Amino acid sequence: MSFRKKVLLGDTLLFLFFFFVIFLWIGKDVGIFTFGTLLLFVYTFTTGFIAYRFSFPIQYILDTITPFQEGKAEYLPRISLPNSRSDEFFKLATTLNALSEKIQKQIETLKAQRIETEEILESLAEGVLAVDRSAVITFANQAASQLLKIPREIIVGHSFLNSALHRKCEEMVLQSLQTSEINEQTWNDEEKHLVLFSAPLSRQHKAILVLQDKTVDRKLVDMGKHFIANASHELRTPITILRGFAEVLADAKELTPGLVQEIGEKILKTSHRLEKLVKGLLTLTDIENSSSDHFFSCDLVTIAENCQLLLKTAHPQVEIQWDKQIEKGPLIADADLLEMAIMNLLENAVRYSAKPVRIQMSSGFTLGHYQLIIKDFGIGIPQKDLPHIFNRFYRVDKGRSRKAGGVGLGLSIVKTIVEKHKGKISVESELGNGSQFTLSFPSKDSCAK
Ligand SMILES: Nc1ncnc2c1ncn2[C@@H]1O[C@H](COP(=O)(O)OP(=O)(O)OP(=O)(O)O)[C@@H](O)[C@H]1O
Ligand SMILES: [Mg+2]
Repeated sequence: MSFRKKVLLGDTLLFLFFFFVIFLWIGKDVGIFTFGTLLLFVYTFTTGFIAYRFSFPIQYILDTITPFQEGKAEYLPRISLPNSRSDEFFKLATTLNALSEKIQKQIETLKAQRIETEEILESLAEGVLAVDRSAVITFANQAASQLLKIPREIIVGHSFLNSALHRKCEEMVLQSLQTSEINEQTWNDEEKHLVLFSAPLSRQHKAILVLQDKTVDRKLVDMGKHFIANASHELRTPITILRGFAEVLADAKELTPGLVQEIGEKILKTSHRLEKLVKGLLTLTDIENSSSDHFFSCDLVTIAENCQLLLKTAHPQVEIQWDKQIEKGPLIADADLLEMAIMNLLENAVRYSAKPVRIQMSSGFTLGHYQLIIKDFGIGIPQKDLPHIFNRFYRVDKGRSRKAGGVGLGLSIVKTIVEKHKGKISVESELGNGSQFTLSFPSKDSCAK
């Protein structure tokens, strides 16, 4: 029942009560009874009217705020009493309006802060979880749901699963909740290398768990270690040979001039190889660290033609055929690096072919990429070696490559150069029938897309 109706009902009940009192007390004297009743009626009507009038603003305020109180309205509505009023009710309404505006502003600020915090947490590469005392997940960002492999929709409100990683996470958060201490541990399996941190949120009786994915870092460290081991091994061999020859020269008292010359030649050859190894390694590092400052407009076909001339100068007997499906291959690239890559492929084609050497070159354009194909008809590469030939120091036949002066860095240099230009390199080969290397570089337009 509304407030105003209660007021009217109370007034009516009072009237009836006093009416019966008058009736019982002076009911026999009709004149006085009629006068008394009339007086009571006038009094009740006047007080009822005044109470009804006064209760109007209260009822209005109650009607305005009730939907908010019942959760039907999102915002606390404005109470707008007629401006002409300047009584206490108007002041109350104004105060309530000011208060609701202040609360509204605070709600907006809190909402904005919450959205900002959520966005920051979502954008983190680290997985972040909040977990309550009974190990139920109360918050999880996208990275956490991916690392723990639970779909985003169901992770919140659920406990950890029964996998080894989940059990470890649960153990860590419960430990942090019990001891109120920060925990740090690592997790390794075939797929991932994670660093996990758990910390208590004591005021909320919750714990927070952070999962850092260090898989890539770990791979890089492993690759670095592998590379250092390989490089040391490759460098140690010529150094040992050089020391051996130097010892022979130092120890032997009487050496024939022919032997001295032979040892001298071997020392020279080995030191050339050592120099080539060091140069190759430095070249790789330089390319990896180079910026795109040296990238200018250049033409893939012109660079390839240039390489053809250079190869012809060094090996005049080599036969090179050109199949130009495009006359121009405009790129934004480092022309010197592209020349180095193409020369490496052409040198390999010569090195790994029996004489007379025949090479086919062709240029083309497919799916937004300029292509250069270098095909030889040489010894070819066994299928099992194809996935490894772009690795540093990898040689199919170490003896043959060494005899030919190879150190196994050429193709890894080519691949590094191609990838620096956001391009791709692929190889097809058949043992005994030759090899075909395809370089492809995105055109300027497809780069822009
Ligand atoms: N055109 C080819 N035909 C057959 N085998 C090849 C060809 N190109 C490369 N290979 C094989 O791949 C290996 C790696 O080649 P890569 O150019 O990296 O090293 P390399 O030629 O031995 O030495 P480097 O180029 O550093 O002087 C070679 O040792 C060779 O076995
Ligand atoms: Mg080579």
